[in-house]
Amino acid sequence: MKGTIIKCLAEMVVEKHGGEATWQQIMDVAAVPKHTLILATSDIDDAQAGRLFTATTKVLRLSWEQVADAFGEHWCCAYGPRVYGRTFDRFASAREMILGLDQVHVDVTRSLTNATPPRFSYAWKDADTLEVTYASRRGLIDLYVGLARGVGLRYKEPLHVRKLSETLVEIHFGA
Ligand code: HEM
Repeated sequence: MKGTIIKCLAEMVVEKHGGEATWQQIMDVAAVPKHTLILATSDIDDAQAGRLFTATTKVLRLSWEQVADAFGEHWCCAYGPRVYGRTFDRFASAREMILGLDQVHVDVTRSLTNATPPRFSYAWKDADTLEVTYASRRGLIDLYVGLARGVGLRYKEPLHVRKLSETLVEIHFGA
């Protein structure tokens, strides 16, 4: 997986959950050599990325869902708007962004070597309820849930995100 995901995780821990020392502790628990430099374009082995998320849950004493939510908020409200500002600016609402994300991932990773972006397909259940099918060999649908909640926070819109299975998520737009 591209390093940008882990860079955002590290930044979230450093800025909001205990600082640099806590991040180094997470790297230790995940058996990643101390002070490994992670760049947005680095390739991080998927197993190692998974260990870093698991270590984050352990060190911060949070559930995987809580870490995914915190990550999603940081990606959508802090890291993402700074690093990918133009992408966020293209969308005027949470609904537009959620529907545009399959193409965003295809576009953003086209120029990156070794990227295999998650793919999303969409089906409306009623005027405000969307079912999203998540396809990725990484099985990170919980991260999708946290990120989709982050999109709601970014656009200051109420939305409810519910995992229906390991490949299916329901998003209800509105209170
Ligand atoms: C500006 C916005 C975004 C950009 C530029 C972006 C870009 C990326 C990139 C580069 C990766 C790594 C892919 C790879 O290494 O193959 C990734 C992973 C991922 N993205 Fe995004 N992303 C954005 C927003 C979102 C949002 C809002 C969601 C969900 C609602 C999302 C869902 C995911 C998931 C679940 C992964 C983990 C990899 C996987 O499941 O296989 N992304 N994204």
